[in-house]
Amino acid sequence: MLVVLWINIVVFITISTSFGICFRDYVNHEDNLDIPAIAKYFTTKGRYEEVNPHLIKDILAVNTSILQLPSAQCQPFHLTAIIRHGTRYPTSKNVKKMQKLYELVMSSASGKESWLREIKSQWRMWYTEDMDGRLVQKGVEDHKHLAIRLSKLFPSLISEEKLRGGFIKFMTSSKHRCVNSTLSFKAGLTELWAITDKEFDHEVNDALMRFFDHCPRFVQEIDQNPTALSEVDKFRHGPEMRRVTEKIADSLRVPYNTINDDMAEAGFYLCAYELAIKTVNSPWCQLFDEVDAQVMEYANDLKQFWKRGYGYDINSKSSCILFHDVFNRLKRAADENKSGQQVTEAVTVQVGHAETLLPLLTLLGFFKNNGSITSTNYATQTQRSFRTSHMLPYAANLLLVLYDCGAGELRLQALLNEKPVTFPGLSDQQASMPRYEDVKDNYSELLQGCDFETECQLFKSPA
Ligand SMILES: *[C@@H]1O[C@H](CO)[C@@H](O)[C@H](O)[C@H]1NC(C)=O
Ligand SMILES: *[C@@H]1O[C@H](CO)[C@@H](O)[C@H](O)[C@H]1NC(C)=O
Ligand SMILES: *[C@@H]1O[C@H](CO)[C@@H](O)[C@H](O)[C@H]1NC(C)=O
Ligand SMILES: *[C@@H]1O[C@H](CO)[C@@H](O)[C@H](O)[C@H]1NC(C)=O
Ligand SMILES: *[C@@H]1O[C@H](CO)[C@@H](O)[C@H](O)[C@H]1NC(C)=O
Repeated sequence: MLVVLWINIVVFITISTSFGICFRDYVNHEDNLDIPAIAKYFTTKGRYEEVNPHLIKDILAVNTSILQLPSAQCQPFHLTAIIRHGTRYPTSKNVKKMQKLYELVMSSASGKESWLREIKSQWRMWYTEDMDGRLVQKGVEDHKHLAIRLSKLFPSLISEEKLRGGFIKFMTSSKHRCVNSTLSFKAGLTELWAITDKEFDHEVNDALMRFFDHCPRFVQEIDQNPTALSEVDKFRHGPEMRRVTEKIADSLRVPYNTINDDMAEAGFYLCAYELAIKTVNSPWCQLFDEVDAQVMEYANDLKQFWKRGYGYDINSKSSCILFHDVFNRLKRAADENKSGQQVTEAVTVQVGHAETLLPLLTLLGFFKNNGSITSTNYATQTQRSFRTSHMLPYAANLLLVLYDCGAGELRLQALLNEKPVTFPGLSDQQASMPRYEDVKDNYSELLQGCDFETECQLFKSPA
């Protein structure tokens, strides 16, 4: 009897799932959660799971062989992790845009598609302005899980002994979402080791984790300069974006002039946030096919490129202070290790923003494109390496790991989002784990210069 009932349920689920495919464009994963096909284009609003899909099945899965140690002798002795905060609510500015689109759909959209009916009859506008970018529960978990995975990937460094001994340091930006992420990372470790008799400090340091606010030249020339992002504005008013807004207007059956680029972005965010925060494939996702999503992704990549990336030199130079902080720490650890001392800062966890990571990645030369990305080269940049969907999901992290490989040979490994990345300009055979000395040589100009005060000085305007 029970077996028959069970079979019935299975048959029912199978039928409803395959029926679903008729009008829903989705990827089925083993746990049967359907993920919108456009989820891989969510740029800085993307889930960490989209860049590491194996985590969907097992959020604590770790594969130590990805480290590809050049020899079994290599032992890590220092790790610096620069981590973006976890999944968060939209900012009040984006909530306002989302409300505007929602109101338009409720008052003017017509059509019989099931997704549209679902929006109009079941979906509720639950985003409020007071959510203002706060960390959500999923964001707490992002960091707890990351902490546990990193302790499995580097068990000799992220260990109970090192934590209790004060060899693991925590630093964070003052923003609540970063402080909460830091607390969550620590909680991941203390819960893992059932530590209840001790608490661990963190340092709030905006000079390092929000350097962009403290760099006058960046603030004046980029952040507060309306013309700095002219390429973004041009693209948002260009033919590719117009195709997207017209398709949205068509599917909602509203006049073309009621859907602008902000409205399109709001719809894209609604789909992204519903997935990131609630793990649902929302009916809003039906406003976009993959071609549209690629245009939306490009618009945001363009913004990141010109505001935080290679677009202007000062974007990356504003991170000189963090660059030196990191390399000074590597040097201290290397010196201590070489002289046979205990490494005092075995692990440093620094929690900040996408805006913290991207200028630093740019300064280090990662994901450098062949030429600029502009408002007019969408078509030729489809294979670009500068892709924030891959680089900067929630909880994105850059790890720099120092190894002693015996006979005094130190190596430095870089991992982005738990995957090895090669330092630009270093020969292939030792790419994923080059000699520390070679990395320093490659960055010698930056190590000797890249002075934050000098770079960030405001130049006198020409007379
Ligand atoms: C672990 O990573 C290695 C190297 O990338 C790969 O060959 C192997 O299949 C992975 N193992 C699992 C279980 O995913
Ligand atoms: C974040 O921290 C604040 C202040 O400690 C707290 O009020 C809030 O509930 C926390 N949010 C989450 C999601 O942990
Ligand atoms: C440097 O660190 C490694 C890994 O912890 C260790 O095996 C090695 O003995 C250290 N070097 C010295 C000189 O102490
Ligand atoms: C870089 O771009 C130029 C012009 O857009 C093109 O001719 C060249 O082949 C590209 N190089 C690579 C390595 O993609
Ligand atoms: C690293 O070295 C390569 C080749 O020498 C060079 O092209 C590249 O610009 C260097 N990177 C940095 C950030 O200095």
